[in-house]
Amino acid sequence: MNHTGGNTGIIAPKVFIISMFEPESEAWKTSMVESGTGNLNDSKIDVPGLSMLYPQVLCTADKAVCQLTAGEGEINAAASVMALVLSDKFDLRQTYFVNGGIAGVNPKYSTLGGVALSRYVIQVALQYELDAREKPDNFSTGYFGYGTKGPNEYPTTIYGTEVFEVNEALRDAAYGFAQKAELSDSTVVADYRAKYKEAGSEYAAATGLPNVVRCDTATSDVYYSGTWLSEAFETVTKVWTNETGKYCMSAQEDNAVLEVLVRGAIQRLVDFSRVVVMRTGSDFDRPPPNVTAYQHLLEDQNGFPTAVANLGKAGVEIVQGILQGWEQTFQKGIKPTNYIGDIFGSLGGQPDFGPGSQTNGTGYAAAPVQRRAHMRTRGRGGASVVRRRI
Ligand SMILES: *[C@@H]1O[C@H](CO)[C@@H](O)[C@H](O)[C@H]1NC(C)=O
Ligand SMILES: *[C@@H]1O[C@H](CO)[C@@H](O)[C@H](O)[C@H]1NC(C)=O
Ligand SMILES: *[C@@H]1O[C@H](CO)[C@@H](O)[C@H](O)[C@H]1NC(C)=O
Ligand SMILES: *[C@@H]1O[C@H](CO)[C@@H](O)[C@H](O)[C@H]1NC(C)=O
Ligand SMILES: *[C@@H]1O[C@H](CO)[C@@H](O)[C@H](O)[C@H]1NC(C)=O
Ligand SMILES: *[C@@H]1O[C@H](CO)[C@@H](O)[C@H](O)[C@H]1NC(C)=O
Repeated sequence: MNHTGGNTGIIAPKVFIISMFEPESEAWKTSMVESGTGNLNDSKIDVPGLSMLYPQVLCTADKAVCQLTAGEGEINAAASVMALVLSDKFDLRQTYFVNGGIAGVNPKYSTLGGVALSRYVIQVALQYELDAREKPDNFSTGYFGYGTKGPNEYPTTIYGTEVFEVNEALRDAAYGFAQKAELSDSTVVADYRAKYKEAGSEYAAATGLPNVVRCDTATSDVYYSGTWLSEAFETVTKVWTNETGKYCMSAQEDNAVLEVLVRGAIQRLVDFSRVVVMRTGSDFDRPPPNVTAYQHLLEDQNGFPTAVANLGKAGVEIVQGILQGWEQTFQKGIKPTNYIGDIFGSLGGQPDFGPGSQTNGTGYAAAPVQRRAHMRTRGRGGASVVRRRI
């Protein structure tokens, strides 16, 4: 099997792992080697425009699997992944992207070391914010959507990166693969988990052993912590996904990565039906009973080593599942049965969330240019997609 495009030298990986920082990328590398899937240190490729900290893409010797370390936060993630997508060193049209990192975890759905595979990612902090000390008394939070007058209303000023939905059938296949992993655990992690027992059944998931779950990821550059903010963003997830999304992991990159992949898909450089979003819990987003949010944030919950280990362990099962099922299933792809793409409907179809397609369902690649401009400013269903003050 040659992944270097015959004599062109262009690399066409079957799987591209997107990591955010070094501890994550090392965990992937370790699991890749331990499982006999290859060594990502074997091949190093300079790609202009990557992070100064991680200027090279790494690949296995046969180039079937590659890894990008994007750098942390939304800006680094968008810049690095865009450099990759536009690089002429790669042919990514058939590549599966496994976007994976550690995360804050919602004790209602998972726990330290738990693994989540998402269908939705939501940019929860893309909102107005009043300091909670200055908010109206009847507001449940200082956050409220652009163009709205208070919390929990659907934003009417849309930037386009608020919500992404990925291929649910692929997500479910990845879930099946990830469940084969023997996940790590440790007694210090178990000690912190046990603190949630006192909260009763609401946080039962927090007290269990790490496992693989299906629920959704919030993106915010702000590393929030505490019950009030976590519950506020839980509600934002529900409202912005029209009641379908369940927030269980908080991360700092995923909407940025997916925005770039949508833009790449419009140009037919990548296939947006081949995207997996995976996160593993390294710390709870809110404290157990009788612990303040501040103590909880500063205290070491000891989840980090377990979360990075399980990222590699569950992740490599997904990589192997794709490689082993390549001829039979993955080369031709898993056809999505749900809507995939962004809130604009950029890739065609009608989003099952938000104000509706901005291109009347055709997608930006197909929409006539003059109509695109018209739709951008007026929107559909009344939403404005240009920035304005309330
Ligand atoms: C694979 O492609 C590379 C890069 O062009 C080339 O050097 C190599 O000979 C090819 N290998 C096979 C087995 O075709
Ligand atoms: C990969 O290389 C880095 C140094 O560049 C090293 O720290 C790491 O242990 C290597 N990992 C594997 C799995 O070979
Ligand atoms: C808060 O109260 C004001 C004034 O009574 C009302 O207009 C507004 O709708 C309320 N907002 C929320 C979020 O309950
Ligand atoms: C801890 O919190 C729970 C529920 O919030 C409460 O019932 C209990 O009395 C508290 N325990 C201590 C030691 O403060
Ligand atoms: C989602 O909810 C908003 C607010 O209720 C509504 O305006 C919009 O039409 C809904 N979108 C879909 C696709 O159901
Ligand atoms: C949108 O699509 C529908 C059905 O395909 C069509 O009837 C309608 O004219 C289109 N509207 C615009 C503004 O293109």
